[in-house]
Amino acid sequence: PRIIAAKYNTSCVKADQYPEGDTVEIAFIGRSNVGKSSLINSLCNYRGLALVSGQPGKTKTINYFDVESKEDISETEERRYHWFLVDLPGYGFAKTNKGNRNLWSSFIADYILHSERLMLLCLLIDGRHPEMPIDKVAYDWLVEAGVPLQIVVTKVDKLTAKEKSANLAIIKEMYPTATPPILYSSLKHTGRELLQQRINKVLVG
Ligand code: GTP
Ligand code: MG
Repeated sequence: PRIIAAKYNTSCVKADQYPEGDTVEIAFIGRSNVGKSSLINSLCNYRGLALVSGQPGKTKTINYFDVESKEDISETEERRYHWFLVDLPGYGFAKTNKGNRNLWSSFIADYILHSERLMLLCLLIDGRHPEMPIDKVAYDWLVEAGVPLQIVVTKVDKLTAKEKSANLAIIKEMYPTATPPILYSSLKHTGRELLQQRINKVLVG
């Protein structure tokens, strides 16, 4: 299957606002400014789907997007998969002047622990800064929660080949997962096919 359509559905901050039904959810999380919104736009091939900004802390709610993936079975037959792409607020955003450090808002934890249809959580790690303590805290928490994880390394266009392999080694060591990390550049759409394939495994089973 490949993504053929994506549109914004709803935003929420607590469990009674989550959409009803049995639609599969695939969520994205990462440190504020890691490039999450850019990656969502690149993955869905839809500029402006998720808001991109230079200022950290842009995404403040749990945002649901309706996504449709299509698979051609034969020349006349096709299969469609409807799923929710869930954009979670960035963590670790320190707003120093006000002192409110949004490390991990409680509604992110609530969502992860209580969303029954969450089938995959993509944890985004900035390729330039693989050793951020806050990412390790997040990873450990997610592993403890038992969520199926996919590591996605962002902004790899900013890395030299040498940095890429060095940082990838660090990431594999620090954040072990069942499937290898996916290197992504939203600027060049590097990794888009691999991430789509990973999502397809979840959709098709
Ligand atoms: P918040 O929602 O504010 O937490 O941020 P976010 O994680 O959604 O990041 P966003 O996509 O808004 O991107 C943050 C900044 O990084 C923007 O200036 C983007 O243009 C830049 N950026 C994101 N992805 C890439 C990438 O793959 N390559 C490069 N070079 N820049 C990127
Ligand atoms: Mg964002």
